[in-house]
Amino acid sequence: MLFDLATLVAIVAGVAKASPATGSSSQYPAIAPGTVITQCRVPGTAAITFDDGPHIWTSELIDSFDNAGAKTTFFINGNVYNCIYDMAPIIRKAYASGHQIASHTWSHPSLPTLNATQQDLEITRNNLAFKRILGIRPKWLRPPFGDVDTLTLDRLAAHDLKVVTWSMASDDWAGLTVEESIAKYDAIPNGTDVLALNHDPIQTTATELGPWAIQWARDRGLKVVTLSECLGETSVEDKYEFVGFPDEDDDPSTWNCA
Ligand SMILES: *[C@@H]1O[C@H](CO)[C@@H](O)[C@H](O)[C@H]1NC(C)=O
Ligand SMILES: *[C@@H]1O[C@H](CO)[C@@H](O)[C@H](O)[C@H]1NC(C)=O
Repeated sequence: MLFDLATLVAIVAGVAKASPATGSSSQYPAIAPGTVITQCRVPGTAAITFDDGPHIWTSELIDSFDNAGAKTTFFINGNVYNCIYDMAPIIRKAYASGHQIASHTWSHPSLPTLNATQQDLEITRNNLAFKRILGIRPKWLRPPFGDVDTLTLDRLAAHDLKVVTWSMASDDWAGLTVEESIAKYDAIPNGTDVLALNHDPIQTTATELGPWAIQWARDRGLKVVTLSECLGETSVEDKYEFVGFPDEDDDPSTWNCA
């Protein structure tokens, strides 16, 4: 390879610092923090994503994706179904398998009902947990219920967070049966890329709907990928503000959701 020294230094520095934008090979424009994304950009992709977890059956769901050679994205809460610290092994398993880790706020409020200080706390408490458990900070957040307003988008942008909702909701959380959620998938016109919302704390989603959706997408010729991949984001700094190591030395007694 005929890199000159300056280029080589720039490449090494870029990897070490994960500096934004430079060296990205994506053909798609960079997505600005604080703007709401509602669908994939790469034709032929399906981002089958999961909110509100992890929960005890999320491990089985990860196995289903891994065994299928498919990728997913988890929008993780700090303290809803479980305390995030109690789920650390499952979160590490998901991350180690190459699934994308993203934020869904600490306690799942409708963010526009909160003032700026409270919204900041919903973001930073989750960020601290991700840093402790994985050594990363996600750059993607899905607002609970998809609710945002101008203040919320301003706060999310201030935290360098990109914002995504969904193009299709399986409504598994609303009490739909697996068959009814399947009908929602089947109603999507063939040939359309998919950014699907599901909830892994719902057992039948983790064990039936999620695995089914992988095969459904493939039967339509769609590649089952992470959120970032379906948006044409190609580098790790598109997904994470930084990538380091878990806080091994941190006092574990402070790892709680009280
Ligand atoms: C935000 O709301 C909380 C809870 O109601 C309150 O204690 C705090 O003073 C408010 N902060 C600002 C800046 O309004
Ligand atoms: C959808 O399109 C794919 C790829 O063109 C094709 O193989 C498949 O049979 C179609 N499926 C349905 C349900 O129409």
